[in-house]
Amino acid sequence: MTATQILTEAITQPSHYQVPEGCALVIFGASGDLTRRKLLPALYALAHDGLLPDQFAVIGFARKEKSHEAFREEMRQAVEQFSRLQPFNAGVWDRLARGFYYVAASFEDPVGYERLRELLVEVDRRHGTGGNRLYYLATPPAAYAAVVARLGASGLVSEVRDGPYDTDPAPETHGCCRIIIEKPFGRDLATALALNAEIHRVFRERQVYRIDHYLGKETVQNILTFRFGNSIFEPLWNRRYIDHIQLLVAEDRGVEGRGGYYDSAGAMRDMLQNHMLQLLSLVAMEPPATFDPDAVRDEKVKVLRAIREVLAADVESATVRAQYISGQLRGKRIAAYADEPGVAAETATETFAALRLEIDNWRWAGVPFYLRTGKALPKRVTEVTIQYRQPPLLLFQHAGHLGHERRDVIQPNRLTLRIQPDEGISLRVGLKPPGPSISLIPARLGFSYREAFGIDPTEAYERLLLDCMLGDSTLFIRRDEVESAWALVTPIVEAWADAGRTGLAYHPAGSWGPKEADRFIEADGRKWVNP
Ligand code: BG6
Repeated sequence: MTATQILTEAITQPSHYQVPEGCALVIFGASGDLTRRKLLPALYALAHDGLLPDQFAVIGFARKEKSHEAFREEMRQAVEQFSRLQPFNAGVWDRLARGFYYVAASFEDPVGYERLRELLVEVDRRHGTGGNRLYYLATPPAAYAAVVARLGASGLVSEVRDGPYDTDPAPETHGCCRIIIEKPFGRDLATALALNAEIHRVFRERQVYRIDHYLGKETVQNILTFRFGNSIFEPLWNRRYIDHIQLLVAEDRGVEGRGGYYDSAGAMRDMLQNHMLQLLSLVAMEPPATFDPDAVRDEKVKVLRAIREVLAADVESATVRAQYISGQLRGKRIAAYADEPGVAAETATETFAALRLEIDNWRWAGVPFYLRTGKALPKRVTEVTIQYRQPPLLLFQHAGHLGHERRDVIQPNRLTLRIQPDEGISLRVGLKPPGPSISLIPARLGFSYREAFGIDPTEAYERLLLDCMLGDSTLFIRRDEVESAWALVTPIVEAWADAGRTGLAYHPAGSWGPKEADRFIEADGRKWVNP
């Protein structure tokens, strides 16, 4: 039996994943893109894989008038269009959609919440959902505070038992009540603090599930299993062996119709404050004592707090920001960001950001972390690159290579965690090529997710919805994490806003960013790793 067969067999064994207790999921913003593209396909995939309880219902809540039937039909179309599981299985869908209902109301209207309350009682009776409630905020962020306040005022939030990790004695035990909140969670430290305060007026922290969909990606979770499930990497995972670490989240599309939102966000708020700092904390954290949600998140937040503050005076030397102008991308001409609909004429918003961070702790002192993200780059790729130090004795540097003297062939080891799309892990090592001379060439030892498991990783939202139903908040962002991330990022976005277009670089769409970004890392004697 080959290694691939063994792995494939392991993955096709019946899943040991628990099926949650029955519950009703209320989606605020059920007419939106997120619901259609992500949430419904994820629910359908969970149903398809037998991971949803039989006692399950979904209530869509949004402004537009429509009947329960019209809502079901709209959601069916969304699943047919966006599900990763093709062909569409009408049997699975029909069983799932039996529990679908709709409430048409504005997010501020108390009458709508009254109707929701009545409907939830009815749903409990019909579907046996046992008073368990999950509220999902898939609305524009401006509506978050209103929905939370109205839920509280309408008596729709009980302080109840909240999952397997809840050790607080709870006053009632008739059901769970959780709220899932999408990003963006605030737009700076002050707004994030204010939003947390609003939420905490109504919900306890243990009921709050802040989503960062990167944490639902299999390969992101694999960072921890790779680090802490193997004995050979962790001893080398520190400043004695590692020269620097690069995190790259590149996207090969422009903002594509999201100009209105994006122009008030930019790459730092849209990608770096959340997804990339989450990746960094998983790469850099200490091993937790256990894998329970708070033990893991305690370690992540320690990393975020240990990152050296980027003071306003240092922003220029520690960061690069840029915007794409028109260029060729995958054979197509794409318009400049500034010409996108919804983008201000004099926009100074960055679509590309690069940042050097230092973590002031025992493990990482002196190891820079370079973070880089951008829209309209040549490829869609997310990678973490761990660049080891140069071997101390350059034993082979004068060795002949195919008869010629080569001085540049010894390249330091490099471990690459390929988060997406070609999910896997590779390690660059130096090897002797065939032939009489003693020389070194770089070679790759690799693991490919697809080759090993024969399947594509599941969608992030499937795992996250399931975990929330199970009351496991490990892969959700705790209050102190979101606040620490904003504490770091806020001085940077403020300094950029003050400088406006001064200091903003430009690069053609389809290139790996501006020259300024190359000079930035080269000034440290290093180079970007472009996949
Ligand atoms: C979202 C951002 O959070 O993540 C988008 O708002 C971005 O701008 C997206 O395109 C990237 O997610 P993924 O999973 O495609 O890498």
